[in-house]
Parts: sequence; structure tokens; C-alpha cells
Amino acid sequence: MSDAVLVTGGAGFIGSNTAKALAAAGWRPVVFDSLAGGSRDVVRWGEFVQGDIRDEEALRAAMTAHKVTSVIHLAALTEVGLSMQRPDLFWDHNVAGTASLLRAMVACGVPRLVFSSSAAVYGRGRDLLDESLPTAPVSAYGDTKLAGERLIRDYCSLFGLSATALRYFNAAGAEADGALGERRERETHLIPLAIEAALGFGPPLTVFGDDFPTRDGSGLRDYVHVSDLARAHLAALADPPPAGRFEALNVGAGAGWTVLEVIAAIDRALGRPTPYVIGPRRAGDPAALVADPRRIRDRLGWRATESDLHHIVETAVRWRREANQPFPARVWPGALSKP
Ligand SMILES: NC(=O)c1ccc[n+]([C@@H]2O[C@H](COP(=O)([O-])OP(=O)(O)OC[C@H]3O[C@@H](n4cnc5c(N)ncnc54)[C@H](O)[C@@H]3O)[C@@H](O)[C@H]2O)c1
Repeated sequence: MSDAVLVTGGAGFIGSNTAKALAAAGWRPVVFDSLAGGSRDVVRWGEFVQGDIRDEEALRAAMTAHKVTSVIHLAALTEVGLSMQRPDLFWDHNVAGTASLLRAMVACGVPRLVFSSSAAVYGRGRDLLDESLPTAPVSAYGDTKLAGERLIRDYCSLFGLSATALRYFNAAGAEADGALGERRERETHLIPLAIEAALGFGPPLTVFGDDFPTRDGSGLRDYVHVSDLARAHLAALADPPPAGRFEALNVGAGAGWTVLEVIAAIDRALGRPTPYVIGPRRAGDPAALVADPRRIRDRLGWRATESDLHHIVETAVRWRREANQPFPARVWPGALSKP
């Protein structure tokens, strides 16, 4: 039987794409998700266990029942803005949740971990961030991702785990076959929000800040196609660091696009203008975050091949057009109501 990989957060955007890629590559994904923010209907590859990562017993039971040999840990709260209002929730889900997962891994003898970290650990952004730069998050979200990395590093040296933290830049796009796209209960990401606005399914987009020191004043980000990201997880699983070692690798395209350039690409793809208004900067948003992706290229042979902005936007638009109706408004049931 193929090796089972526990995919926490596998009912979310990146997790569902990763589970699909794992199954295609011959692994056995076991999705573990509370459905606080994800959706059951995107768990189509492998088994599903509904549970909360803060529940160590539930994790142990899932690891034992499914004979899990490695973990991809994506489950987290992810909204930077919310993290500035409710950092307590982020410490609980993202750090206490990661501690619970690590204890379960040690108890069940599961030695390998791939962790969803973020460019947010760098804090003050600039072009071509490399992994040797000091980390200095400027949001509570980034603080909790960095704390997760440090906790994992300590578990590696104490208990002989081997872990790769993938520091994703901005995940975006949709699978070319149209099976999976980006849709959250509380959407805050630029590309899906802009497409909703352009199609008239959502309110005009707010551009947070037009006075950053970038080429047009709007925030500059590195966008990485979700299929490229999914492939990075497979590469990390296939080639882990030695037992006892932790490593952090950027996963980005190595090029940045401003918010206004992304909007222009969406206008072109849809053949209509995206309505938007300029708002103030958001707390916790740096001017620029662009990856230097050389380390992951050298270490794992991974490079972005689908992360051209126009391809990202076209796949996202195609997936959203196929649905061609407003998504039903749903209440996000989980994290906010559970401090
Ligand atoms: N989307 C991005 O651009 C981006 C960038 C950098 C890092 N990341 C990281 O990647 C990971 C996945 O992000 P995403 O964009 O797919 O987010 P998402 O919100 O689509 O998915 C997160 C999933 O985690 C689940 N979850 C949350 N708290 C949980 C808990 N306590 N127990 C069990 N499940 C829980 C949610 O139900 C959801 O399915 C996160 O760790 C995020 O911090 C994302």
C-alpha cells in the first residue's frame, strides 16, 4: 500500500490542490480539517477526517488508523487583517495547533513534516527576499507562522523529526482542468475578490494603499500558481532533510506584480474593467514581498513553471466563469465563534 500523508487543512485552497497532486503522484492523502474555513466538497482525493488540530487525541487517532508516515501541515487561520484584531485566535490555531500536531507526531512515531510557512515571516518587505535575511514579522499572522517554524525546529532537534518549512509567497490561480479554484468562506485574497467585483458578484474592490514606494504606489507581491505550490510539496516530501534537521525554503516565482497590474490583467482576461476604490493601507501590509527562489531550486530542483501572472489570472477567471453565478453567502462557522 502507498504511504499515507496526513494533510491538515486539506479542505482549503492550497490543501485541496496538494491532496490532488499527492494522489496523482501515488501517495495516499488523508485530509484532516475542521471545516472552519474549508469546504467538504473539495476533499475528493483520499480519506477525510473532520477534526481540529488543537485536538491531539483526534490527530493521534487519525495517524494510527490511517498508518500515516508523514504530514503536510497547512491548517491555519490566514487573514492578516483579522490577525491584527484577534491575535489570540491566531496563537491558538496556528501555534497551539502546531504544538498539538507535533506532540501527536512524536507519540505516533511519524518522522516527517512539511509546514506551510509564509513570506509574512520576513516582515519588512523588499525585492528578492532570501532565507538568510533576518525574520521580523509585522503582523500577528506572521508572528504565529514564525513561532510555528521555531517550534518545529526545536522538535526536530529534540525528537529527531525532519521538517521543511515552505515559505509561500501569494498563492493564486486555479487548476487547468477546472476542478479546483480559490474560494473561501471569508475571502480576503486579491485575485478572487477582484474577479467577483468585475463580474458584479461582489462589491467594488478596495486597493489598500496607493502610496507605497513601488512603481505605481500599490503593494507589490510575488504570485505563485497553486499547481506550482502543490508540486513544491511533493518535492519536499520526496527529499526531506536528514533526521533532526529543519530547513526553510521560499516558494515564489521570483518576480513581483503590483495590485494595479493584477487588476489590469483581470480587466484584460474578462474584457471589462474591475471596479475598485483606493483605501488606506492595512496594518501589517509591507510594500513589497518578492521571493528569491534560488535555494529551493538548488536544494529540491523546484522552480515555478505556471506562475506567469497572465496564466494565473486566466485560470482563475476560467474557473470562476464556469460557476457563472454568485456563490451562496455562508456564515464562517468555526474560528471566530471559538476564542
Ligand atoms: N494563500 C496564500 O497565499 C498563503 C500564503 C502563505 C502561506 N499560506 C499558508 O498556507 C496554508 C493554507 O492556506 P490556504 O490559502 O489554503 O487557506 P484556506 O483558508 O483555504 O485553508 C485553511 C484550511 O485550514 C483549516 N483549518 C483552520 N483552522 C483549523 C484547525 N484548528 N483545525 C483543523 N483545520 C483548520 C480550514 O478549515 C481550511 O480548510 C495556511 O497555513 C496559510 O497560512 C497561504
